[in-house]
Amino acid sequence: MERGELTPMILRRLRELQDKYALTGQDLLSNLEGLLHANYLKYWDYIHLDTLLSLQNTRTDFPDEFIFITYHQITELYFRLSLHEIAQIAEHNNLNGTFFLERMTRINRYIKNLTFSFDIMVDGMDSEQFKQFRMALLPASGFQSAQFRFIEICATDFVRLLKTEYQTETAETAEIQAIFNHLYWKEGATEGSTQKETITSIHFQEQYKDEFIARGEEYRYKNLWQKYLGLSEDQKTDALKQALRDFDQLINIDWRLSHFRSAVRYLKQGNEPLNATGGTNWQKYLPPRFQRTIFYPTLWTEEEKENWGKKWVHEFV
Ligand code: HEM
Repeated sequence: MERGELTPMILRRLRELQDKYALTGQDLLSNLEGLLHANYLKYWDYIHLDTLLSLQNTRTDFPDEFIFITYHQITELYFRLSLHEIAQIAEHNNLNGTFFLERMTRINRYIKNLTFSFDIMVDGMDSEQFKQFRMALLPASGFQSAQFRFIEICATDFVRLLKTEYQTETAETAEIQAIFNHLYWKEGATEGSTQKETITSIHFQEQYKDEFIARGEEYRYKNLWQKYLGLSEDQKTDALKQALRDFDQLINIDWRLSHFRSAVRYLKQGNEPLNATGGTNWQKYLPPRFQRTIFYPTLWTEEEKENWGKKWVHEFV
């Protein structure tokens, strides 16, 4: 093509642009002039690299705290991606099994990445440094990750997030506000010695409780489980069931155990557990076999539920 030649394709595009601008009362010529003066997009501007790299603000001078804060931020971005996919399933007007499966597969890929990469925490920091810089971060804890709780709330019926003894038929239809205090994670927010709620948990709820309740109500009929139940029988394929089971296992066993390994590595000295964020009995709380959070109990056999999280725990404790 010679320079300056306006091919039929270019002319067609110009006409389409003219139509587009006409729809909103703008003219093509002014917009073309704007294009002439506009700067080229640059990678670092597009991804806001400067802002991104300005967020790793450590609280101490221990070099390994930088790894700790950065990996938490990486995790939050993967959580964000997961919530982005969940919203696409929840908001879909004409949901089918294929779309559902594709999005679940994406989510599972994110959580798998997080599970495998947890070695960055488990093996990738000097434990002497950890024990010191961690004290400077009290009483903050990953326990206060709101996105983690949003993923749980959007994944299943709220009742499934309650302590097992509160998962009754009455709770299934109760207002979220009324059952909120029976959430399983309240257990992890209790001081081992006094049974009082930790300051970590009090801060967390002051900041997010209302949002959690609102999200619970919002997702009552559009959480992943309800969306699955709403599909026609022929769309509930074995592959989709498997993807939901994988998700359940990835969040409620695999990720939690990778995370638990880091607690064991840094917070256990011989047989003596170091005090965690707020004196929580994390050894009793964190392992999935004790926690027993299961998003989709009807997709598991009795035996599978009986053995929830046991195999892995045996490997690590
Ligand atoms: C060396 C690394 C880590 C250690 C030693 C550790 C330790 C702990 C401990 C002891 C708890 C129990 C609550 C408390 O006492 O604070 C906890 C909870 C939690 N942490 Fe971590 N953590 C680590 C890294 C992370 C990372 C990278 C994330 C990512 C966001 C994270 C997210 C969470 C979440 C979501 C909980 C609540 C889990 C639940 O309720 O089942 N943690 N962590």
